[in-house]
Amino acid sequence: MKNYSVGISGVGSFVPENILTNYDLMKMVDTSNEWIVERTGIRERRIGSKDISTSDLGTEAAKRALKDANLKPEDIDLIIVATITPDHLFPSTACIIQDNLKATNAAAMDINAACTGFVYGIVTGASFVKSGMYDRVLVIGGENLSKIIDWKDRNTCVLFGDGAGACVLERCDEGYGILSYELGSDGENRQVLIQPGGGSKIPASMESIEDNLHTLKMDGREVFKFAVRTMERTSKVALERANLQVEDIDLLIPHQANIRIIDAARKKLDLPMDRIYVNLDRYGNMSSASIPVALDEAIRDKKIKKGDNILFAGFGAGLTWGSLILKWNKEEDNV
Ligand SMILES: CC(C)(COP(=O)(O)OP(=O)(O)OC[C@H]1O[C@@H](n2cnc3c(N)ncnc32)[C@H](O)[C@@H]1OP(=O)(O)O)[C@@H](O)C(=O)NCCC(=O)NCCS
Repeated sequence: MKNYSVGISGVGSFVPENILTNYDLMKMVDTSNEWIVERTGIRERRIGSKDISTSDLGTEAAKRALKDANLKPEDIDLIIVATITPDHLFPSTACIIQDNLKATNAAAMDINAACTGFVYGIVTGASFVKSGMYDRVLVIGGENLSKIIDWKDRNTCVLFGDGAGACVLERCDEGYGILSYELGSDGENRQVLIQPGGGSKIPASMESIEDNLHTLKMDGREVFKFAVRTMERTSKVALERANLQVEDIDLLIPHQANIRIIDAARKKLDLPMDRIYVNLDRYGNMSSASIPVALDEAIRDKKIKKGDNILFAGFGAGLTWGSLILKWNKEEDNV
């Protein structure tokens, strides 16, 4: 079994044009801009139009990542899509994107680890490259959450948005790329964040629709406590596994759910604010798309350079969590 170093060779993202502001939401539910900003940090989010699906967002992000990596679709060996809002329960959204891209040499599969999905996807894809089984893996985090939100529930509808981000994984020079990671799960607490209807447990029926079981349900306070605990703990596990200290981290790219969660984790980790990338004010929580969209923006904002230690830390439904540390292996683009 080979043991190659694996890094990110291309990054891309795509969000729908349509912006839904907190002021727009005030016309839909009993809320205020002040409440949403103070309790979450979110000011606006992107909402895909009716005819947009996760594969559309993911395909565009993937095209941009391939361009950034200087690759053609047929160079890709495997496509992994992390999503909780697939186009269909089956076939996989990865197969639809494979067809859209004409990635004729790629295997394709979806994974579901909710908001931790992108970290799970990178770890899964990297394992194939590390072992020498595949040379190039495309990992996409894409969500069309607006389709599963209960737009009458002010507890949840203000939090989420649509978007997609993608990365290409390839071998890189030793000492660069993925240094460590941790993935975890706690299925016992699955009820705190769930879309109950539409699967084999509660298939679609007149009753399930009347009971509104096909939308996202959340116990916000429980998720909040879990998130703060987890962000700190999983970050520390990844640091320990990479034999690094908090001071060695150049940029933390956290899952973008709530500024208060990020701030609490930041304080516990004792990391200065200028070493954390935050864009949730403009996008809300895009679940598995949050980290790759933030990564793409951080690169374009020139916040990342070759040799930087980048920490991803996420949490989500399942419950799941994951962290990953990369030594950035890509030269800065001169454009
Ligand atoms: C959802 C969340 C923002 C709520 O913030 P909070 O400070 O915990 O607020 P609470 O749940 O304690 O609710 C406080 C009050 O605000 C109300 N409220 C909830 N949403 C509101 C909204 N959009 N506008 C105005 N008031 C709202 C509640 O009904 C509650 O009123 P009550 O005291 O009369 O019952 C917060 O718990 C959170 O972010 N949780 C994590 C969610 C998350 O990250 N999910 C995705 C994980 S991947």
